[in-house]
Amino acid sequence: MKTMINVEHLTKQYKEVLAVDDLSFQVDEGEIVGLLGPNGSGKSTTINCMLSLLNFDRGTIKLFNKEMKPDAYDLKAKIGVIFQEVAVFEELTVYENIDYFCGLYIKDKSIRKQAVEEAIQLVGLEDYKKFYPKKLSGGLLRRLNIACGIAHRPTLIFLDEPTVAVDPQSRNHILDGIKQLRKNGATIVYTTHYMEEVEQLCDRVIILDKGKIIAMGTTDELKANTQIAEKVILEIHELDLEAIQKIKDLKNVADVRYNAPNLVVTYKTGKNNLVEMIDYLKTSPLHYTTIYSQRPTLNDVFLELTGKELRD
Ligand SMILES: Nc1ncnc2c1ncn2[C@@H]1O[C@H](COP(=O)(O)OP(=O)(O)OP(=O)(O)O)[C@@H](O)[C@H]1O
Ligand SMILES: [Mg+2]
Repeated sequence: MKTMINVEHLTKQYKEVLAVDDLSFQVDEGEIVGLLGPNGSGKSTTINCMLSLLNFDRGTIKLFNKEMKPDAYDLKAKIGVIFQEVAVFEELTVYENIDYFCGLYIKDKSIRKQAVEEAIQLVGLEDYKKFYPKKLSGGLLRRLNIACGIAHRPTLIFLDEPTVAVDPQSRNHILDGIKQLRKNGATIVYTTHYMEEVEQLCDRVIILDKGKIIAMGTTDELKANTQIAEKVILEIHELDLEAIQKIKDLKNVADVRYNAPNLVVTYKTGKNNLVEMIDYLKTSPLHYTTIYSQRPTLNDVFLELTGKELRD
């Protein structure tokens, strides 16, 4: 397996803020790696350092096994970047924008035409080729931004929060497009603060908080390291303190939270917790409408490591 990215001891300080604090990680060829972290955790700074767009204070960055530098044009031609802020030309149409960015790397007109058409298809902009950016919705604009970043067929792609504030339809197009890019052989670094996307998309996750890596691994590995075995979630419309206390006293129960109508019962051990809860409820006067068991989520991992929720 080839190593596509090798970051060692990356450290970046903006005046008072230590934005990235001694990060080390690798990304292998063909992986989609998620950089997951709340606002201000250092995701964009990490990406911008990896791309040599920002100076950093300490550390080394190798892409394609070569040191990345501001003038490493041979490497840059193989890299695609989709920035957090949309950056397209207002005076060019969708097609012309993609053609412009693609043309920075692919000079042959017929190859470029094919590459641009492929990029348009990948993000589902076939019906908008002649539109100007100001006529596009936020989601379509994000899709254009992505097409501009990947049309030259890069093999290493960085996407910085490409789905923030997009409608569900555009989000699905974007996620499907990214899966397709991986199928085509690309290696992808994907930043987000949506854990559901990471679970759906990424082979491996790096969780950042305050510029530090607090956990790294596959989602299954991260979840297996939590102390939570499972959560049983019930919908109960009326529940008093006494009833909550009785549930707290049940076997294996580690924690009980009631935010009407949802009752979340957390277990750290035990195998048949759901069955036992159902048995208990048969003997109690409580009426519930739904009950199900849930494995730990990445939010639980984050909560356990930092004491706070991943989402604001
Ligand atoms: N140009 C800058 N000057 C000073 N501080 C900065 C600058 N850019 C970022 N920071 C600070 O560095 C920290 C990391 O910011 P960064 O933008 O990398 O986080 P992020 O994880 O990408 O956040 P978001 O989810 O909001 O995009 C934050 O505390 C931020 O305020
Ligand atoms: Mg950011």
